[in-house]
Order: sequence, then C-alpha cells, then structure tokens
Amino acid sequence: MIMNRLSLSAKNLLVTLGNKANKVNMSTNIPKISPALTTDQVMAREDKYGAHNYHPLPVALHRGSGVFVWDIEGKKYYDFLAAYSSLNQGHCHPRVYKVLQEQAGQLTLTSRAFYNTSLGEFEEFITKIFGYDKVLPMNGGVEACESACKLARRWGYDVKGVPKNEARMVFAENNFWGRTLAAISASTDPSSYSGFGPFIPGFDVIPYDDLPALEKYLSANKDTCVGFMVEPIQGEAGVVVPSDGYLKGARELCTKYNVLLIIDEIQTGLGRTGKLLASDYEGVKPDILTLGKALSGGFYPVSAVLANDPVMLVIKPGEHGSTYGGNPLAAKVSVEAIKVILEEGLTENAYQMGNLLRSELEKLPKSVIKKVRGRGLLNAIIIDKKYDSWDLCLKLKDNGLLAKPTHGDKIRLAPPLTINKEQILDCCDIIRRTIESLPK
Ligand SMILES: Cc1ncc(COP(=O)(O)O)c(C=O)c1O
Repeated sequence: MIMNRLSLSAKNLLVTLGNKANKVNMSTNIPKISPALTTDQVMAREDKYGAHNYHPLPVALHRGSGVFVWDIEGKKYYDFLAAYSSLNQGHCHPRVYKVLQEQAGQLTLTSRAFYNTSLGEFEEFITKIFGYDKVLPMNGGVEACESACKLARRWGYDVKGVPKNEARMVFAENNFWGRTLAAISASTDPSSYSGFGPFIPGFDVIPYDDLPALEKYLSANKDTCVGFMVEPIQGEAGVVVPSDGYLKGARELCTKYNVLLIIDEIQTGLGRTGKLLASDYEGVKPDILTLGKALSGGFYPVSAVLANDPVMLVIKPGEHGSTYGGNPLAAKVSVEAIKVILEEGLTENAYQMGNLLRSELEKLPKSVIKKVRGRGLLNAIIIDKKYDSWDLCLKLKDNGLLAKPTHGDKIRLAPPLTINKEQILDCCDIIRRTIESLPK
C-alpha cells in the first residue's frame, strides 16, 4: 500500500516535470533536446558541451546500415573508416541487433559478483574459436592491452622469477594501443604523451619490423623482460605492414628468451585483413592475444584477452576486474558478432575485396597517390606532399565517401567487410573523380 502510494506520487512528479520541461524548457533540471538540427547545429552543440579531444570531419551522422551512413540532412555516404575497424559486420547488422534486443530485455548486467548464464557461453565459444584455454573479458581495447601488460608482469614475477618490481616490457615504435597512462607510457607519438607525465616505468621501445633490434633488446634484458607487445600491422601509424617473417621471427625470439609474445589484434583481428587474425598470415600464435572493436560489431564495447592457463591463471580472484567486463549483454552480442563474421564469409570477402580495392587504387594517378598499402580491407593511401589529406577527405565526403587522414599524408581506407564488388568499384570511382578534381 505504501509502495503503491509512493510510486504513484513519483509518477506524478515525473509527469509534472515532463510537462514543465515541454512548456518552459530550461526552467527545470531537464534540458529540452531539440529533435531536428542542421549539421552546423550538431557540430556547434558538440563543440560547446563536449571535451575537445577529437577533430571530426564536418558531417553529422544520423543513421547507418551495412556499408552506408546517412547524415542528418539525409545525404548518403560509404563509410570507409568503419569506426576504426569496429564495424566489420557493417552498421546495425540485423542478427547482432536482434540478439542485443532480446538480451537487453532479459538481463544486462550482473557484475562478476555472481555467475550469469551468458558469460560461460561466450568464454567457451571464443576460446574454442581462437584455441586458448582461457579468456579475460574486458570492455575497451585499451583495457584489454593494459590487462595483457598486467598479466605479463605477474607472470614475470610468479613464473619467470623476475626480481620484485624489476619487470620490463618492450613495444614497437609508433605503436598505438589507446589513451590510458599505461598506453601513452609506451607511445612514441608526442601528441599522445606530451604533457601527461610522469609515465609508467619499465616500458621500453624498439623500432618496428626490426628483428635484430628485438634480439639485441631481449638479450640485454633477458632476466627482466616479461613481454613484447606488437601489432601485426600498425593501423594508427598508417597501416604499416611489416616484412614477411617478422612475426614468426618475433615468436622465435620471445620463445628463446622466455618472454611473452603479446599480439594486439584489436584493429587487425576478426577478418579485417583477410584472415581471421592478421597473425594467421604467418601461422604465429602469441602467448597473449588481445581483441576488441569488431568483437561486438559496433554495438557495444567488448574486448578480450586470450591466453593459456600457465599465463592466465597467475591472476587470482580480487586481483583484476571490471564491473562491466563479461556482462551478459556483451557476452551475447559478442558471440553473435563473431558468428556473423564466420558464417557470412566476411574474412574471405575482405581478402577478395581488399585485393580488388588495392588493384583499382594502383591505377590512380601517381602524382597524387604515392603509395597504396594494406592487407584485406585494412588499407591506406599515401598522398603526395603537395596535397592536403584533410582537404582531400573533405572532397571525398562531398562526393559521398567518408574517410579520415591518419598521421599527415596517409588516408586509411577500411570499409565494413560486407562491402561487395560493385560497391568497391563505385568507391574507387568516387576516389578517382575526387583526385581528378584536384588542382594540378
Ligand atoms: C591496435 C589497437 N590497440 C588498441 C586500441 C585501443 O582500443 P580502444 O580505443 O577501444 O581503447 C586501438 C584503437 O584504435 C588499436 O588500434
């Protein structure tokens, strides 16, 4: 009875607040959100109320489906960024959407204080797919990579016998694995780390794609180095593909010096490069594998750290965790997102469409496109210095294709893996027309 009365008065209060909000807008604490905005208004609002930590292309997206997005004014674009390779399955994939809807009405979050009926299904599925004993579920990519660093340090102390607090880790120049203090402590990009020190100690950097440098480092630090973390292709650095044999050599050296090989496949994994994992090109299996981004098909932040028992079980209850990590909604969404990649042949499609894309891009004027590189559908073009890659992206946008510059003269071309031949050819035509419209 008391409960009923309380909930009735709570309802009345909300109705009153709602009415007031509609009538007098800002006079209550509930701000009125204007439903129909122009692109300029969308941009001005983000600029006014949001932190200025990004520099987006001036387009206000409102809807997405497959390889396409539409802006608030109804203009349609090809999405050639795919949320930095998170949308391998395409925008709003119906199968993942259905699972998300079903689970959202059943059980979303339990925390890891209790068991839930979805987490084990995800754990069994993903460990069997990738061939590891265990998975540690997290949310964002950076959390997965940082968890891998923690695992490596603890493994170093408990298994390798590194003296207390002397563990070292080594990373490759131009690495990118996120924005936390640990990630920027490993970064060689001043715009990532400048002004944020002091940094995490025990992190070292060697050149990428340089096995002699790795061997030199490992032999000099053989008693203290616990892990080498590396991307199979450096995505953020501008899609830098290492020489054939690099990962294989790194695997051999890590084994030789009893150091964990950690491969960061947050951007390259899940079909993006035309293999399920980019490290599959060399048949290399890391001691720790990190996945994220497309692990949920763009619906929800889900990341994962995979390892075998001798590594994963060094962390005991209470020593690591995340409130949302492994929640039932994430678990269900992720299983379906992976199934979509496998069952819809997206990896094979990425391989074929990537070959087609690169061969078409190679035909474009060398006076503008100096180089085309990539694997599968993770690609970049390098623009001649006399052109501005930001301006080129603005012109591509006007012509219906969204792409973003990375590190000055490079433009990443990484559409959803659902793209078909006709669409690739159409996109290459857009790129060709845009380039031809540039002043000579
Ligand atoms: C290779 C790699 N690792 C880690 C991350 C970090 O992922 P997140 O932005 O989800 O934290 C990224 C993000 O771009 C990445 O490309």
